[in-house]
Amino acid sequence: MSGPEQVASQLDALVSPIGRELLDRLARLEVTPETELRVGALLRRDYPTELVTAALGQHELRRRAYLKFTRSQQMYFTRPGLEQATAEVIARHRAARFAAASRVADLCCGIGGDLIALAAGREVVAVDRDALHLRMAALNADAYGVGDGVTVVHADVRDVDLTSVDAVFVDPARRAHGHRMRTGDSEPPLSWSTSLAERVEAVGIKAAPGIARDAVPSGWEAEFIADRRDLKEAALWSPALATGTSRATILPEGHMLLPLHGDEVEHRDPGEFLLDPNPAVTRAGLVEDLARSLGAWKIDSQIAFLSSDQPLRTPFARTLRVLDSGPWEQKALKPRLRALDIGSVDIRRRGLAGDVDDLHRQLKLRGTRRATLVMTRVDDRPWALICTDPNSADHDFG
Ligand SMILES: C[S@@+](CC[C@H](N)C(=O)[O-])C[C@H]1O[C@@H](n2cnc3c(N)ncnc32)[C@H](O)[C@@H]1O
Repeated sequence: MSGPEQVASQLDALVSPIGRELLDRLARLEVTPETELRVGALLRRDYPTELVTAALGQHELRRRAYLKFTRSQQMYFTRPGLEQATAEVIARHRAARFAAASRVADLCCGIGGDLIALAAGREVVAVDRDALHLRMAALNADAYGVGDGVTVVHADVRDVDLTSVDAVFVDPARRAHGHRMRTGDSEPPLSWSTSLAERVEAVGIKAAPGIARDAVPSGWEAEFIADRRDLKEAALWSPALATGTSRATILPEGHMLLPLHGDEVEHRDPGEFLLDPNPAVTRAGLVEDLARSLGAWKIDSQIAFLSSDQPLRTPFARTLRVLDSGPWEQKALKPRLRALDIGSVDIRRRGLAGDVDDLHRQLKLRGTRRATLVMTRVDDRPWALICTDPNSADHDFG
């Protein structure tokens, strides 16, 4: 049996009643690298060896998938399929943009991460040229109770008739043969995906968060999505689904920041608080818009830090209290930190070169408190800020 046929027959065995029984049994056992051999030997007394091997592999993928899917224990994965799958919280957020659509095409559906969210309340035509992924996508939609509205099509997405759908979502592959493709490359390419809007007006495309600004066609929206402070991906929306040129979204709450045009934001020296924008805000090019919405200022024309004299609370930035701020002078840093009784620092560098590990070694700190040391530029001058997080337990600076 060849590789793909073997994997397909493993899946047949895993979805059979005996395979499901074995996977359920594994879910109740403590399987760790230390116990795996013993568990495997125990199970081989009751089940065929090949089935046990396949089930242990699937169990491990389900365990990892827990970070993305609440129902991972009932789902099926390949390793690349899981790695490329959209996490539930992001897929649900993105699918909400298709609220007006009743029949959507999910092109390059993979193991169905997006499909699960798209199929909640509407019909979906799910297309992939990988037969195994397509089968898993259908099983995974069933695991979430949304399989009835799903039609699977095993085909190259280029060959699919889209006349029956009123919206399209596409998540092109950005890996091939186990390797990440070059930034900007995908299969099918971005230009093919954006040209879908000539056939169906409402198009959403999943893209890498590092997508080049000039790759976004005019009239389209680029949405940058972070899960808390972790920048996850970009979504491109055709003019029919766009609400502006860019957007930053912070999940799980779904806070969104849109462009806020107005007067130029002033630049001046840091005040009592430093705001470190969420990476989704920075990637969306909305740092100045955030400053306007908060009444904050920039500390440098090129640097994505904001400042204020108020302890601003916003989901779009982390606010640090500034304990000490001044031009960067490495020699003066040690006494400044000692005077504040700081014994350990997280060093954040933005716009200033320097070896962070080397600096850590040179500082030889001995105090009892923690702080964040920010190496940056203020009005193009090298600058140091010693800050503390007002929300952290270490914040005892009064
Ligand atoms: C990034 S994954 C999709 C992940 C999916 N959205 C999810 O959340 O699980 C990309 C998928 O595109 C499929 N693919 C790549 N090129 C394709 C093509 N030309 N036609 C059909 N499927 C394709 C691959 O087989 C792979 O399953």
